[in-house]
Amino acid sequence: MSSTVIAIFGAQGDLAKRKLFPSLYQLEKAGLLDDELKILALGRNINEDFIEQTIAHITKYVPQDELDCTVLDAFIAKLEVEQLDFAEPSQYFKLKEKLSPPDGLAILYYATAASLYDLISENLAEAGCLHDGARVVVEKPIGYDLSSSQEINNQLARYFKESQIYRIDHYLGKETVQNLIALRFANPLFETQWNLNHISHVEITVAEHVGIEGRWGYFDKAGQLRDMVQNHLLQLLCLVAMDPPSDLSADSIRNEKVKVLKSLKTITPEMMGTHLVRGRYTSGICDGQPVPGYLEEEGANQSSDTETFVAIKAEVDSWRWAGVPFYLRTGKRMPDKMSQIIIHFKAAPHYIFDPDQKHLINNRLIIRLQPDEGISLQVMTKAQGLDKGMRLRSDPLKLSFSQNSTSERIPDAYERLLLEVLKGNQYLFVRRDEVEYAWKWCDQLVSGWNKHAQPPKKYPAGTWGPASSIALITRDDRFWSEDV
Ligand code: BG6
Repeated sequence: MSSTVIAIFGAQGDLAKRKLFPSLYQLEKAGLLDDELKILALGRNINEDFIEQTIAHITKYVPQDELDCTVLDAFIAKLEVEQLDFAEPSQYFKLKEKLSPPDGLAILYYATAASLYDLISENLAEAGCLHDGARVVVEKPIGYDLSSSQEINNQLARYFKESQIYRIDHYLGKETVQNLIALRFANPLFETQWNLNHISHVEITVAEHVGIEGRWGYFDKAGQLRDMVQNHLLQLLCLVAMDPPSDLSADSIRNEKVKVLKSLKTITPEMMGTHLVRGRYTSGICDGQPVPGYLEEEGANQSSDTETFVAIKAEVDSWRWAGVPFYLRTGKRMPDKMSQIIIHFKAAPHYIFDPDQKHLINNRLIIRLQPDEGISLQVMTKAQGLDKGMRLRSDPLKLSFSQNSTSERIPDAYERLLLEVLKGNQYLFVRRDEVEYAWKWCDQLVSGWNKHAQPPKKYPAGTWGPASSIALITRDDRFWSEDV
């Protein structure tokens, strides 16, 4: 009998195919899965063909040079398949033994719509499958607004203690995001400068190159604010803005993040015009190819009011950050896939160089999440050469993870997150109060824009968003950095 089981509810879904099975394969390859561990794939129409299909998905989503037949065989030997109609309580009894390994762990990965969480939990409980060694993993979106997220959280709380619930925000599993914690709290050099006295503003961009990719039905109910800002961008903001935690425990880190979320300044309906821009892509050119606009995508409803782009000027009302804007921007169909955080430091208090060089960019710390993960610090140096006098240039000191790392590959976020669930470490997962404070802040934005009833501004696919998003930052005499 195995000591640990990972049960994947919704094993035939997209998440399982693209992320969960390839990531579990990588953990096997790295020797991080116990020999005794079992992976139980659950789905309504699942059968023995599933094993072949899983091999095909792993072969498709794992880079060719990382595939190894021996590892794949060992991985497949861990896989068991069980048909389960989630809505049929009597079918859960057959899982009882499998999900209750002696002294062991049962990881219940709900890779399903959130509307099924309650039903699955209730049926598992009725069949006696839940116990203290169970950990449940759930995906975003946790709700659609504050009240629906509270409902989902209440449902989970009926069956699991908070210490058993692992809410995924896959951005927290990204290598550079982890490094942000190390960079801030292992280097006093930065931490002493990390406040309103030295930082003028912070930019966070999560630009996506893709459009809606056949997900119009899902996406149109959410929009970019709920799909990306409520979770990924606010989590990044929290990691930049939080105070040093007293230790690396899950609660210490999450307490600090919650303090940031509670300090986010309300953006009143009157501030909407200067603090928030919603956009939606029209047809345009991406990678030299014509692409349709959002309303021309498959399944589109012409009366949609959903945004595919948001830019926000956020502020954190705290002693550390009062008056320092955090400019957030995220959109679909932008020129590149690029996620980065830029910390802009203030100018030198007294400028002694040639005034015509004052326009050169001040120190900035660039934390690049993707692509080309790494950190660079833009510093001023003297231009070399006898004829240059004391001319300055702004150069990057660069740390590229892919080139500097001794390990050959940067692991996918899901590999790290699955490993942390196995270890029982919750610091990379989102606590209930974080989800709810984030919704509370997003809800006031939604109600503000509903009051003004402005349709999203247009931007051609393949551009950096509507013109008003550029005005949102240039109004403050600053600009979005796309050049780094
Ligand atoms: C998901 C969103 O959470 O994140 C998607 O639902 C988005 O719409 C994706 O495309 C982006 O993730 P990544 O890791 O590719 O930046």
